[in-house]
Amino acid sequence: LSTVTKTVCAEQCDGRCFGPFVSDCCHRECAGGCFGPKDTDCFACTNFNDSGACVTQCPQPFVYNPTSFQLEHNPGAKYTYGAFCVKKCPHNFVVDQSSCVRACPSNKMEVEESRIKMCIPALISVQKVGHVIHNWTNIDKFVNCTKINGNLVHVPIRRDVYHNIEALDPEKLNVFRTVREVTGFLNIQSWPDNMTDLSVFSNLATIGGRALYSGISLLVLKQQGISSLQLQSLREISAGNVHIAENSKLCYYNTLNWTQLFSTASQKVLIRNNRSPKECSRDRMVCDPLCSDAGCWGPGPDQCLSCRHFSRGRTCVDACHLHDGEIREYANGSVCVECDAQCERADDDSLTCNGPGPEHCIKCLHFKDGPNCVEKCPDGLQGANSFIFKYAESNNECHPCHSNCTQGYVQTHVSYLGNVNLERMCAVQVGVSLFRH
Ligand SMILES: *[C@@H]1O[C@H](CO)[C@@H](O)[C@H](O)[C@H]1NC(C)=O
Ligand SMILES: *[C@@H]1O[C@H](CO)[C@@H](O)[C@H](O)[C@H]1NC(C)=O
Ligand SMILES: *[C@@H]1O[C@H](CO)[C@@H](O)[C@H](O)[C@H]1NC(C)=O
Ligand SMILES: *[C@@H]1O[C@H](CO)[C@@H](O)[C@H](O)[C@H]1NC(C)=O
Ligand SMILES: *[C@@H]1O[C@H](CO)[C@@H](O)[C@H](O)[C@H]1NC(C)=O
Repeated sequence: LSTVTKTVCAEQCDGRCFGPFVSDCCHRECAGGCFGPKDTDCFACTNFNDSGACVTQCPQPFVYNPTSFQLEHNPGAKYTYGAFCVKKCPHNFVVDQSSCVRACPSNKMEVEESRIKMCIPALISVQKVGHVIHNWTNIDKFVNCTKINGNLVHVPIRRDVYHNIEALDPEKLNVFRTVREVTGFLNIQSWPDNMTDLSVFSNLATIGGRALYSGISLLVLKQQGISSLQLQSLREISAGNVHIAENSKLCYYNTLNWTQLFSTASQKVLIRNNRSPKECSRDRMVCDPLCSDAGCWGPGPDQCLSCRHFSRGRTCVDACHLHDGEIREYANGSVCVECDAQCERADDDSLTCNGPGPEHCIKCLHFKDGPNCVEKCPDGLQGANSFIFKYAESNNECHPCHSNCTQGYVQTHVSYLGNVNLERMCAVQVGVSLFRH
């Protein structure tokens, strides 16, 4: 091939050709030489590589239709990922317009729509998004953050003269209790001596691993005070390895099935020189029996990775409150879910509901409007074209007032009204000023 590229090109070819003639020019999207005239014949691309063809830009999400004079959705759209056009961004990347990026630019926020993470202009803040902690002086800005775009590193537990960083009041770490996602890595190499776990991250569900620390997205190293991790909500480490070492009091780490947290097959765990599992079991620092074999983050039934039987909120339980308890439940698979407050609590041997919401009650506590149990029948709810008034029959089912009624609903006590046609009776207010149309 090298002999081909060294061919003296025709003048029109801009120095890139596969032969001496004008018809032997490379395609204009080729960066170097080529072995033919087409955009698929390039040795390398000037701009983007779309499945082997060199293109100026990847297929855009919208294309102009000259017949209709309109931009139309392009089903063949692709994202730019480096020098490539891809149908889907890699797992831990977000879509910014039509590119795959590691993190949204600072004037945008990350949202997830139909399972695609993307950047949208941060006009309305649906979630408070924090930024990278540089020197921990900005920790107060993280109050109520649900997501940290960045990494958490080196908690300054002592004054750092060299970097001019003051020691952090350990209490302040509690701002992280609301955080559900860290997009980069979590690096615990310093931690307050009297905090025995990482439970300030009890709501952290995802470590994104979009940035890594020596290939690691979760590092807990040389912490002599930590006895359990207590990352009870953590369910996904999207990229990067886990490294947990030299923590002389740490237990439970060995029970966890880490591969269940990983998103890719290449992620690894490196665990060494923590407290020995034998000593941990001797001191009963073992998983609760309600945890499944996938292990746990610490003691108690709320630290399980998954449950052996059923779960209620974060806690593993033996069974759901189907027939007992103040608040009755139904079982959605192995998850106990409360029945709606509008359901009437059943006798101990029958169910109170068989699904979520007021439409799945076995019996209503008050009234029934269509499929739903309600507190009261609609009295003046805004409908599509009018206000809706209904009255309750003696079986507590709501029925629409006759359309001739201007307002209010029919008294339910038929005997009180005498032998009149119910549908024609309307009331402005129940029990007051009944009138006839
Ligand atoms: C384009 O990418 C494909 C694989 O993704 C590769 O086989 C091909 O050589 C690339 N083409 C160019 C011109 O770089
Ligand atoms: C901490 O970081 C902020 C933001 O980068 C900066 O303005 C401030 O000067 C830094 N403080 C110290 C003590 O380095
Ligand atoms: C944080 O959230 C709580 C509860 O929603 C609210 O009362 C408080 O004002 C918020 N604080 C800040 C600084 O946003
Ligand atoms: C740890 O020590 C700090 C400072 O000595 C104190 O403010 C904090 O309340 C202690 N935390 C716990 C969990 O004991
Ligand atoms: C851990 O979980 C994975 C994925 O669910 C499973 O294939 C594997 O058998 C589990 N490992 C152990 C030791 O239970």
